[in-house]
Amino acid sequence: MPIARLIAGPCRIKEQPALRRLLNEVFISERGARVLQDHAAGAAKPCRVLRSVSRTRFAPASEVAPMKVLAIMGSPRKGDTYHLTQRVEEKMRALGEYEFEYLWLRDLDLGFCHGCYGCLWRGDEACPHHDVVVEVERRLLAADGVVFASPVYALDMTALLKNLLDHLAHHMHRPCFFDQRVLLVCTAGAMGVGIALRTMPAVGVMGFTVAHKLGMLMQSEQRTHAEERLIERKAERAAQAFHRALHAPRPSPSLMDLITFRAQQVFFRLNRDQVPADHEYFAERGWFNPQRKYYVDMPVNPLKDLVARFVGRASAWQTRRRLATPARVASGMSGPPQ
Ligand SMILES: Cc1cc2nc3c(=O)[nH]c(=O)nc-3n(C[C@H](O)[C@H](O)[C@H](O)COP(=O)(O)O)c2cc1C
Repeated sequence: MPIARLIAGPCRIKEQPALRRLLNEVFISERGARVLQDHAAGAAKPCRVLRSVSRTRFAPASEVAPMKVLAIMGSPRKGDTYHLTQRVEEKMRALGEYEFEYLWLRDLDLGFCHGCYGCLWRGDEACPHHDVVVEVERRLLAADGVVFASPVYALDMTALLKNLLDHLAHHMHRPCFFDQRVLLVCTAGAMGVGIALRTMPAVGVMGFTVAHKLGMLMQSEQRTHAEERLIERKAERAAQAFHRALHAPRPSPSLMDLITFRAQQVFFRLNRDQVPADHEYFAERGWFNPQRKYYVDMPVNPLKDLVARFVGRASAWQTRRRLATPARVASGMSGPPQ
């Protein structure tokens, strides 16, 4: 959407200096343009608009397209989880322009993680399943929103979804999914939704922002009217939360996020030989700079930052000491396995 048209809307932000600077730019980010559009429609506050615009990747204004949602399906069948995800899709389409794409993990030729540590120690390409993983990563990075959907099997997410997360685990050291908002969807016959929804947010450490968790007990395809109504209500709530998150700037990092960043910053800097891939990734992005407060450049609460510096450093040193104990050195645990 051309910026001139957006400014012509009912905007008080015309006076804002940051936006004035933007007017001189040829490019505007996709997300920024959408938020501006929302502002013009009276749905977003000016300060939120400006923060969003200043924090996002830039793309030609002419390329602003419907938001892409990639639904990663962790069930081996098109059953309850698919039904629930489709209800969310319907509600999302009523709220805005969305393109949904379903990725069925059962159809991927992805073997189980061998535990070779290749991705962690030597880099992504060292994974024996790199060809498949890199394609999933490409699709994740191309999406604005991601739905991770799984039924409960033996009180947790399915092995299909867990196996994918295992293959993405190196992004917990080298996070990259900062532009993607996530909806977690989980179904069960009786129990385990709470447990699964507590383990699935591991994706947060990879950079994803978890916008909402949707858990439902769904006994069968023979649903009563009351059950269908409950599904509709919960799907509606999830769609609204996901839609809001997709149009809002990234929320401020939590204290845990900041501690993780600081611990990695110290640990990867001191252990170049043990974690060369992580060291290089941080160095390339300037993340070793002590002035850097988080992976992405954004406002950080100063008190949380102070606590995170202290706790993160202490935890990095503790890990370093633990990995350097003679028993671990002898067993090869402190370096890449052969
Ligand atoms: C192998 C297997 C294990 C299951 N384990 C659980 C469980 O631990 N707790 C539970 O409440 N339901 C369990 N279920 C039931 C499913 O979670 C439930 O039916 C779910 O809605 C199925 O979703 P789907 O149709 O998308 O596959 C299990 C089902 C299967 C096939």
